[in-house]
Amino acid sequence: WPLTARTVAGELHIGGVSMPALARACGTPLYVVDEADFRHRARQWRDSGADRVHYASKAFLCAEAARWVQAEGLHLDVCSQGEFDLAVDAGFDPALIVLHGNNKPAGELEAVVRRGIGVVVADSLEEIDDLAAAAHTAGRVQDVYLRIAPGVEAHTHDYIATGGDDVKFGFPLAQGHAEEGALRVRRHPSLRLAGIHAHIGSQILDIAGLRLAAERVAGFVRLLDERHGITVTDLDLGGGAGIPYLPGGARLEPAEFVAALHAGIRQALDPARVRLAVEPGRSIAGTAGITLYRVGVVKQGLRRRFVSVDGGMSDALRPSLYLAQYTAWTANRTPVGDPRHSVVVGRHCESGDVVVPDIALPDDIAAGDLLAVPVTGAYHHVMASNYNHQPRPAVVSVADGQARLLVRRETFADLRRRDSGGLPLDLHAP
Ligand code: LLP
Repeated sequence: WPLTARTVAGELHIGGVSMPALARACGTPLYVVDEADFRHRARQWRDSGADRVHYASKAFLCAEAARWVQAEGLHLDVCSQGEFDLAVDAGFDPALIVLHGNNKPAGELEAVVRRGIGVVVADSLEEIDDLAAAAHTAGRVQDVYLRIAPGVEAHTHDYIATGGDDVKFGFPLAQGHAEEGALRVRRHPSLRLAGIHAHIGSQILDIAGLRLAAERVAGFVRLLDERHGITVTDLDLGGGAGIPYLPGGARLEPAEFVAALHAGIRQALDPARVRLAVEPGRSIAGTAGITLYRVGVVKQGLRRRFVSVDGGMSDALRPSLYLAQYTAWTANRTPVGDPRHSVVVGRHCESGDVVVPDIALPDDIAAGDLLAVPVTGAYHHVMASNYNHQPRPAVVSVADGQARLLVRRETFADLRRRDSGGLPLDLHAP
């Protein structure tokens, strides 16, 4: 739940701002971010015992969020030129940015190197060569982390587990490919192997996999030193700390996450020799965000009551993609009557279009009520689509009684502008 959430005369207030008033002013669906919560989580990571914290901007990014991250002393992890340019254009220091991706186009590598990116995380042999060429052209020696797949299973949804034996990311440790990658980096004078990277998955609540991955990465660092005389200083061990989506759910605290990594590193290396970096995304942005929806049609089904809202899978993809669980509050009044078994559904043309799959909602919930779905700060705004030609919601931040527009609502005109109506294409143009 956002840190500053309060109920005032039955109305939900966040950051000292009334949610019903905000919904009237900005419309719904609306993404709301509690700036205090986001910044508090960022500071918890900064003070977690890691030497560097890269905020994983794929979880939630806009110009203002990039400025919060920089103001709190964190670095930034991006996974595309789009995220990189957005952050740098917002004033983020490119030297504090790390770029990820399993298939980075050569043009993208050239662009970020030219703008002075701090670190590129190399994911394949081809990419190492492309990156070396880009750095050479720019007249730079580019810092590189080598991403390895440590062969550790994270206990999470299959779609968001990334560190096992059969994944598209990085150099698998098991088959000796990681060693080959490190030697390839060494061959290029325009590259410097600054670190080793691994990320085993997302929404992790069990530290055993983290510790094991850290141990394997540290073992690899020792092997590089002993076998090849390659000294690596940075261990970037990724993100993935889990957060509570439902009341009573657990959170993997930053200090616990970092302690597990340190414990793993100690098995293979003197920790004083290396710097530990981490890349939390969800854990910083997740609980800071809520989504406001207006209730429309309420229908009693055979087994459950369908409460329809004015958004759905176009702004909240996680329930339909991962069967993710959420809860909801009535945000405009104190509801009365016994809770009834309900499902909050969207307005899209699919039965799988669910916002909250299983919830006891008050008996008297009705058209016009305002529902707040918490813990939508990470992987909601950034995963929104235009399915059914739905314009994407606005993003607003609240703090100290003030609301500010971070991203404006998309309009039908925005969508129409891209429809080119059958424009003839010249395939021979340069
Ligand atoms: N570092 C790397 C290399 C990653 O791939 C990710 C997430 C992170 C850090 C940040 O992980 P976090 O701390 O946010 O868990 N769309 C999915 C999550 C995909 C995560 C992809 N990588 C979801 O909605 O659950």
